[in-house]
Amino acid sequence: MRTHYCAEVNETHIDQTVTVAGWVASRRDHGGLIFIDLRDKDQVVQLVCDPADNAEAHQLAEGVRDQYVLIVRGKVRARGEGLENPKLKTGKVEIVADTLVIENSSKPMPFELNDEKVNEEIKLKYRYLELRTQKAYDVFKLRSKATMAARNVLDELDFLEVETPIITKSTPEGARDYLVPSRVHGGEFYALPQSPQLFKQLLMVGGFDRYFQIAKCFRDEDLRADRQPEFTQIDVEMSFCDQEDVIGVAEKLINNIFTKCGFEIPTKFTRMSYMDAMENYGSDKPDMRYDLKMVDVIDIFERCDNEIFSNIAKDSQKNRIKALKVPKGDEIFSKRQMKGFEDYVRKFGASGLGYFQMKEDGLKGPLAKFFTPEDIQAIIDRCELEVGDAVFFGAGNKKLVWDYMGRFRIYLAEIMSIIPKGTFEFLWVMDFPMFEKEDGHVKAMHHAFTMPELDSEGKIAYEDIEDLKSVAYDIVLNGTELGGGSIRIHKEDLQKEIFTLMGISDEEAEEKFGFLLDAFKFGAPPHGGFALGLDRLIMLMTGASSIREVIAFPKTQKAQCILTQAPSPVEQSQLDELSLRIRKKIDA
Ligand code: AMO
Repeated sequence: MRTHYCAEVNETHIDQTVTVAGWVASRRDHGGLIFIDLRDKDQVVQLVCDPADNAEAHQLAEGVRDQYVLIVRGKVRARGEGLENPKLKTGKVEIVADTLVIENSSKPMPFELNDEKVNEEIKLKYRYLELRTQKAYDVFKLRSKATMAARNVLDELDFLEVETPIITKSTPEGARDYLVPSRVHGGEFYALPQSPQLFKQLLMVGGFDRYFQIAKCFRDEDLRADRQPEFTQIDVEMSFCDQEDVIGVAEKLINNIFTKCGFEIPTKFTRMSYMDAMENYGSDKPDMRYDLKMVDVIDIFERCDNEIFSNIAKDSQKNRIKALKVPKGDEIFSKRQMKGFEDYVRKFGASGLGYFQMKEDGLKGPLAKFFTPEDIQAIIDRCELEVGDAVFFGAGNKKLVWDYMGRFRIYLAEIMSIIPKGTFEFLWVMDFPMFEKEDGHVKAMHHAFTMPELDSEGKIAYEDIEDLKSVAYDIVLNGTELGGGSIRIHKEDLQKEIFTLMGISDEEAEEKFGFLLDAFKFGAPPHGGFALGLDRLIMLMTGASSIREVIAFPKTQKAQCILTQAPSPVEQSQLDELSLRIRKKIDA
């Protein structure tokens, strides 16, 4: 229908006749002359309807309103002097309408398309209208480019793109499953995959050597700004590899994606152990765009005159006392603000938050009286304090202190506005513990198929199960977990041992993972891999504030699709066919 996209029309087309097609972005009636900004997928071009040139086109243009769909043929001419618009790619020219076809009309928009403040529910109800904005188009153009770059680089590296099933058996990644009832096998269910984890491992047993997939994954979990129930992974697995091989592929992949999308990033990323990340930043995904590093002061507090602190300090295995220096904090924050920070950390289980201020005449603060002058000096030295600095202390159980001090670090960075915009700080977090205990249960920190660290005899050895490390790694970007992976277990005995440690009985293991254990009996090669969250990657690249902005048709925080009204009730006949009966509606 068109000869040119709007963006293509420029001075080289002057005096040529072109046909453009799109939506009316705006219409201005200048007493006689009508100007229309016509927008197609990504740019605007100006149309002029002059009754002197073409009365019919002008008459039609009088009835045109915003977002009408037009197909317009006309001659390109240079805009009059002083009427050029340098902000537009097409700003030096305009098209004098010769034939104007109103292909479709439009109701008035339910919201101002480019208004950022419009309620999100309305935008999601009419998501297709929001997609007409330049901002949305740019996001999806970048997403497409990134996906294509990923495909190309993995293809060059000899990875085979393979699709794995969507209606399948549960693949545990720590969330709840979305279930699909079977009609043919009444009372039985498929699960939508939380990731292609087990199938990609089976592809390695199948000898494919290198696999990838741009894979849809489904997880029924609490939603946040960086989580959706349905999301996409760039999923990768390879055989006969060690951790370095996998990390090398991940770095090449990420580097290629960013480069193709026009961003410069390093070819190799910094690495940090899980323990260092927790001890220094209170998080397994520290944001490295700013400093604010925590320092251990438990030994100094052990000697202080305050029983609460000295008692906590006595058990340095279980507990931590961490100091967080804020350069110039004493100058930035009032005493009231410093006290107010306590309310923030209390929300995350802290019983309090101590602080010192570094004044001209030494270290001051409510806790100072409990320390000898030597220990005051030790705190100054350990925290490298200078006049004007403030330092905050968290004390208690180590996991609790890591958590609330880690959150406090981010909170401080946000309120101090010290997080640089437009920079990318990648970090590998390595040597994750294999397990964590939760309410007395042993849970895999990555997943149950991760290779634990083995001793020289190829056995797992530990004193406390939480000390056992795994060959697992996460890639963190600007404080968000972008992806993760591991070397996998490929031997049946070891896999069974891990299930046992997690309290999974032999019968349960057989019922849930029998097919994997079986496959390990037939020459499973050593293998490993990783998955990157594609939506998160695009969110971070575009600086979007929510993952919803980079998904064409996202769900709300309550896992609903406002546009289609899903989830929704179904006909009784459908339930009958599926052998289902709704007993009682339960709202989560
Ligand atoms: P993991 O569970 O860490 O690993 O997921 C990999 C990456 O997927 C993204 N992601 C999500 N993105 C949006 N919404 C969600 N609900 C969501 N959940 C996860 C994150 C995350 O880092 N099978 C393993 C990978 C492997 O071991 O190879 C897995 O799925 O960016």
